[in-house]
Amino acid sequence: MLLTYFRGAWLAGDSGAPAAHIRIEYKGDVDLVTEADRRSEELIVGRIRERWPGHGILGEEGTRTQPGSEYQWYVDPLDGTTNFAHGYPVFCVSLGLARSGELISGAIYDPTRDELFAAEKGAGAWLNGNRIVVSPVKALAESLLGTGFPSKKRHNNPNIHFYQHLTLRSHGVRRAGSAALDLACVACGRYDGFWEFNLNPWDTSAGVVLVREAGGMVSDFSGGEFDIASHEVCASNGRIHPELLREFARVFAGTDLEPLPKAGA
Ligand code: IPD
Ligand code: CA
Ligand code: CA
Repeated sequence: MLLTYFRGAWLAGDSGAPAAHIRIEYKGDVDLVTEADRRSEELIVGRIRERWPGHGILGEEGTRTQPGSEYQWYVDPLDGTTNFAHGYPVFCVSLGLARSGELISGAIYDPTRDELFAAEKGAGAWLNGNRIVVSPVKALAESLLGTGFPSKKRHNNPNIHFYQHLTLRSHGVRRAGSAALDLACVACGRYDGFWEFNLNPWDTSAGVVLVREAGGMVSDFSGGEFDIASHEVCASNGRIHPELLREFARVFAGTDLEPLPKAGA
């Protein structure tokens, strides 16, 4: 469904120009939402309720059902909305499931590459049916990392300092615009690590299960247990985790920081 919307809006017509643009609404200053976000949530929630009427659902576009039930779904009907709305083909659907507060499974689907990532606690992680594992990279200096900047709360977000600090100490930091896909990239070894501030349970739940089941590690920025409500996520192949956390501590402490260069200097 998302791909049909995307193609309809962005595939070039005879003139070579996009066929149409996606109609955007604003939930905040730069927090976009499209009809595709809402229709996708409707469809997913409808299917879950049909099959498991007693399960709780928390959806980014407003669904709140059966709070307090044993099973809880986290639904991001379109992760990467800004990309989607601009015709940049990096977006996905993300579904996470918790039982009694513990994340037990996750699925992330990237329609642009037809890639389905899935994981179940204790059973492993897969990409289109093939088992995936995190990367073998041992050193931060040889790592490719990912991060993101929130659509809300951009002011006073310290991440630009982390971005600069980690860029100077790795093969680079990508900012692709879909946190769920970023986590899936850690799980299948395309990235060695990922972190972000201020994410929500629908962004992280599925990806966290994927990374853990692919043999990786997920924590908060101090190495404490990942908490879905905490808005801090640091995921890696496990091997570079201590180094990554050490660098975070240095940025938080303000030690060894290269000042951000002045533009035009
Ligand atoms: C956003 C994406 C993005 C991240 C933002 C999220 P949305 O989700 O995951 O990568 O940096 O913080 O809000 O709004 O496209 O579902
Ligand atoms: Ca999201
Ligand atoms: Ca979303």
